[in-house]
Amino acid sequence: MPTLAVYPGSFDPLTNGHVDIISRGARLFDRIIVAILVNAEKAPLFSMEERVEITRAVFRDQPNVEVDTFDGLLVDYVARRRAQVIVRGLRAVSDFEFEFQMALMNQRLDPTIETIFMMPAEQYTYISSRLIKEVFALGGRVHGLVPDMVETRLREKLAAQPIGAGKKSR
Ligand SMILES: Nc1ncnc2c1ncn2[C@@H]1O[C@H](COP(=O)(O)OP(=O)(O)OP(=O)(O)O)[C@@H](O)[C@H]1O
Ligand SMILES: [Mg+2]
Repeated sequence: MPTLAVYPGSFDPLTNGHVDIISRGARLFDRIIVAILVNAEKAPLFSMEERVEITRAVFRDQPNVEVDTFDGLLVDYVARRRAQVIVRGLRAVSDFEFEFQMALMNQRLDPTIETIFMMPAEQYTYISSRLIKEVFALGGRVHGLVPDMVETRLREKLAAQPIGAGKKSR
């Protein structure tokens, strides 16, 4: 039976850390589904449609990478897709506690589903979507930390809604 893995997250936006984990998963499993969580945050920077579009574009040449969205319990989605594995990325010890808790809860909810943790290449271990958004909004360079398409979209968003919009300008 082919092994199908689900890599869930909010991907707001997709970073090169995510890309690294997805590429590793695509080598390890027959198919990896990048499952973008609906409503993870009340006010995401990138809409669901944008996040799906970006992820599909980045992996357009990898036929065993699929992009989908999901809502509700992750184990229900995984079972519905007839997948056997949940993939999660580990950056540092700080990720461990939360991830360990989630993995054990999911194991209890559905003991047939296995959670697999993967480490990204060292140069991506400090990247998070939140940090990318923060640094970019303050004018920092994120080149090489996110796919080029994400960098372009970030620039467009910032131009449309500059930081400090609504505040008194200097
Ligand atoms: N740089 C990275 N290296 C390895 N794994 C990562 C990296 N960034 C995120 N992940 C993992 O990818 C999965 C999805 O994470 P998520 O969508 O929350 O991204 P994030 O970068 O942590 O975003 P946020 O800052 O909004 O929480 C999680 O398992 C997370 O640990
Ligand atoms: Mg996170």
